[in-house]
Amino acid sequence: MTTLIINIKLLVNTREESILLRGKALADLPAIENAFVLIEDGIIAALGHMYELDWMVPHPPKNIVDASDQIVLPCWCDSHTHLVFAGSREAEFVDKINGLSYAEIAERGGGILNSARKIQQATEENLYTDALYRLKELTLLGTGAIEIKSGYGLSVADELKMLRVIKKLKEQSGLLIKATFLGAHTYPLAYKDNHQGYIDLIINEMLPVIAAEKLADYIDVFCEKGFFSAEETDTICKAGAAYGLKPKLHVNQLNSIGGIDIGIANQAVSLDHLETLTPDDIKKLSGYAGVCTLLPTAAFFLRMAYQPARALIDAGAAVALASDYNPGSSPSGNMNFVTAISCIQMKMLPEEVINAATINGAFAMEAASEVGSISVGKRANLIFARPIPSLAYLFYSFASNHIQRIMISGEWVN
Ligand code: NIG
Ligand code: FE
Repeated sequence: MTTLIINIKLLVNTREESILLRGKALADLPAIENAFVLIEDGIIAALGHMYELDWMVPHPPKNIVDASDQIVLPCWCDSHTHLVFAGSREAEFVDKINGLSYAEIAERGGGILNSARKIQQATEENLYTDALYRLKELTLLGTGAIEIKSGYGLSVADELKMLRVIKKLKEQSGLLIKATFLGAHTYPLAYKDNHQGYIDLIINEMLPVIAAEKLADYIDVFCEKGFFSAEETDTICKAGAAYGLKPKLHVNQLNSIGGIDIGIANQAVSLDHLETLTPDDIKKLSGYAGVCTLLPTAAFFLRMAYQPARALIDAGAAVALASDYNPGSSPSGNMNFVTAISCIQMKMLPEEVINAATINGAFAMEAASEVGSISVGKRANLIFARPIPSLAYLFYSFASNHIQRIMISGEWVN
């Protein structure tokens, strides 16, 4: 099918070339006023100013959409989520309001192990249905590409179960999805005092099956005090690399324990979280070739200091924004809130948050040739905003829904 969208008030993030944006370049947001987009078979075939329409599209199709008064953006690329989970953890949320610490909640069997028990009891079918429902909700909120991690299985059978659910979502949802194996999310109780035993399980029992069934694109480790040390993270990254899985790592959420060095040495595609950075860490990240993925809603929900986005960008780092959607630290995958909070609390500019949540998010899942900007040859994944006075209004007027409709691969989502 061919669709022509005309009279677009502002067409945002139009790029001929997709490059990972670092430092000052994050504030450059190309856009066309009074624009058109031509879509053929779900792919952007042409775009330009309305005055170029006649010669660029000499034979317009029957299907024409008038987008007067509308700002159109590329859909969000959410490059870090734990979208597949079972149940929810609002009881822990209330316990925290009542003053319980993270350690006390963990002692009561809460946290990641709580979600793991729920996953272990869930069927693959139920996990798929719940995850698909969440994915639909996120699509209507503008997310058009997403990375999803395992990591609540923590046994061979349950990690594989989670990854098979993600594979089915990939095949059936119509969205661009990348899968990440996060067997190293925490040590299961049975391996609390036998770390090497669990690492052996990951390396000898999980990875070979994951590779044989092509269940993952990346490998992740929660590198943190009380979870996986820098050395253990290094071992697991190297084991993943032997199967062609590049790392995307949870580092420096609570402590700076060397995960950044390990990530850089293992050529991680992205280093994620980064709430707790020393000046030396920021220096290292400024020269890091990959993406620094910030997850501000996790800091918001856990009442922590936000990631030092300004310092990272000013040092020249490549910053992306993602939701971290999960039942423990960010029970929302709403990228409109992620971007607004990044402006409000991390002092990122509207142009920077759009780039960080689209083109740089696409780079953080190695999908920039297909998504992340409005470019000829990429998927027609488009957010149509309701009439709003300006682009900055999207983030200033936070928590309202400014989306009128969403197009994924050229089809309207309803
Ligand atoms: O990215 N930090 C590690 N993992 C998740 C939260 C896990 C949970 O509490 O369920 C995160 O924030
Ligand atoms: Fe996470």
